[in-house]
Amino acid sequence: MKLAAKSARAFAPASVANIAVGFDLLGFAAPIAGDTVTVSIAPEPTVTLEPAKAPGSKGHLPTDPRLNTATAGLVKLIEDRKLKHGFHVSIEKGIPMGSGLGGSAASSVAGIVAASSLLEKGLTKTEMVYYALIGEAVASGSFHADNVAPSLYGGLTLATLKKNPDNLAIEVTELPIPENLWCVVLHPNTEVETKMARGILKPDISLRAHIEASGRLASFISGLYKNDLDLIGRHLRDDIVEPQRAHLIQGFSNVQKAALGTSGVLGCSISGAGPSIFAWTKGERTAESAKVAMLKASPMARAWSFAIESGNGARLIP
Ligand code: HSE
Repeated sequence: MKLAAKSARAFAPASVANIAVGFDLLGFAAPIAGDTVTVSIAPEPTVTLEPAKAPGSKGHLPTDPRLNTATAGLVKLIEDRKLKHGFHVSIEKGIPMGSGLGGSAASSVAGIVAASSLLEKGLTKTEMVYYALIGEAVASGSFHADNVAPSLYGGLTLATLKKNPDNLAIEVTELPIPENLWCVVLHPNTEVETKMARGILKPDISLRAHIEASGRLASFISGLYKNDLDLIGRHLRDDIVEPQRAHLIQGFSNVQKAALGTSGVLGCSISGAGPSIFAWTKGERTAESAKVAMLKASPMARAWSFAIESGNGARLIP
């Protein structure tokens, strides 16, 4: 097979997924950090991995390519395409590990974007989601694309998937972003393991809870399409997963109270599996006030505010 180049480097942003509603379905790109992955063509059809650069992290990234989020999808890609060559991969973690900010998805997406650019026939975006999801599943233990999709596409996405034993079909919808929508993300500088935070969730919900959650999700998405921040604010709430995970995050209820007590805040919940916490706000000034209030409630944390925008997904670095 003819190759386009010998080496490529890609960046993929952090993401917040779930947005209180849409557990495992909804997410948005958070342009506050990202992971960078360099992929080079290797002569043998295997994947090799350099020790990852993950400054400040307590965790250790797996060195087995089948178990590392950035490379598990590449192993499958070599098998599926019967490639004659392999990949050598180097990862620079910019997203704190175990932060709930989509770090495993970002590494996985950056690896796939870089590798795809090296192929004569690159991957479609749908294929990239599929292979990135194989990597993400290694970390989280399940196939959900709510972090992979916004990290790849940018903006705000809905990712639904139909699963059968041989094939994963993922449908990504890029959702409209209302005007003046801002976000605060607070990272408490602690770690929560995603697999554990998923493992503690009760597998079933009542019919009543299902009806309420469906109503919230439908109203929230209607609010996006209607550019109606008040409608979104009335439904940006999680009564199912958040109460089961809040105890994993020290000071969660104080931070949430501080955010919700700030005028113009639409809602506040856990980012991913935690421990990061996000709040959506009406405009920049509210975001700044909410950030100050949230940091006051959690003085050891770091926090960022940013406008939610489209077009900030993964990219090749020239
Ligand atoms: N939706 C996922 C969760 C994100 O909350 O567990 C982390 O994989």
